[in-house]
Amino acid sequence: MKPRAVKTLCIDVGGSGIKAIVLDATGKALTERMRIETPQPATPEACLLVIAQLAAAQGAFDRVSVGFPGVVVDGVTRSAPNLSPEWAGFGLTAAIETMTSKPARAANDAGVQGLGVIEGKGVEAVITLGTGMGFGLYVDGRYVPNIELAHHPFRKNKTYEERVGHAALLSVGKKAWNKRVSEVFTQLEPILNYRVLYVGGGNSRLVKPETLPDNVRIVDNLAGLLGGIRLWA
Ligand code: BGC
Repeated sequence: MKPRAVKTLCIDVGGSGIKAIVLDATGKALTERMRIETPQPATPEACLLVIAQLAAAQGAFDRVSVGFPGVVVDGVTRSAPNLSPEWAGFGLTAAIETMTSKPARAANDAGVQGLGVIEGKGVEAVITLGTGMGFGLYVDGRYVPNIELAHHPFRKNKTYEERVGHAALLSVGKKAWNKRVSEVFTQLEPILNYRVLYVGGGNSRLVKPETLPDNVRIVDNLAGLLGGIRLWA
C-alpha cells in the first residue's frame, strides 16, 4: 500500500462529545466527521461502546489514533478529570486494538490537537477551550507530553480550568470569560516565551480575535482530529 493510502481513524474523546473521522496520510478527510454525545457516566466501558459505534459507522481504516482528555502514558490512561475516575490505569490502546484488530495510538487531546497545527519551529504551545482546558507544548515540533496546566492554581484560589473551562463560561458569561482567557495569555507569555500560541477547542470560536496578541492564533476545531495522523510520524 502506498503510504498516502493509509487510512487513519482519528477519534477525539471530549467531555461532551466523542468525534471520529477517517483521514488519508495527507490529512484529507475520507469520511464525514461524526459526533456522538459522551455517555454519562463516562466510564471506559461506556466510552468504548461509543467508539465501537463510531468505528463501525466510519467504514474501512488501517490504524486508530485517539486524543484523550487526560494523561496518557504508553497507551494507558492515568486520569480523566472530566470523564470518570475509572480511567486511572486503563489500557486504552490495547482495548481499541482488541476491538478493531488494528494498531492504535493515544495521547492527550490537546497534545494531539497541537500536532495538527504547529509549524515545528521553536517553542509553540496550544490551549484548548472546551469542557476542560487543555495544554500542549512543542519544541521544534516535538511534543512535551502531559503538562496538566488545567489543574494548576491560577487566580482567586481557582485553577486555570476552573477560571476558563466550560462551567466558568456558563456561570460568568461570554464577556467576563473572554477577559479571563486574555488573562491566561498574559500570564503564560512571559513564562513560556512561546513563538506562537494556538487556541483550539469548541469554545475557541467565542474568543474575540481583536483582543488577541500577535502571536496567538485561533485554530479550527477539526485540528483535534487532524493531529491524529502525526501520532504515527
Ligand atoms: C485535562 C487535560 C485535558 C483537558 C481538555 C483537562 O481537565 O486534565 O488532560 O487535555 O481537560 O480536555
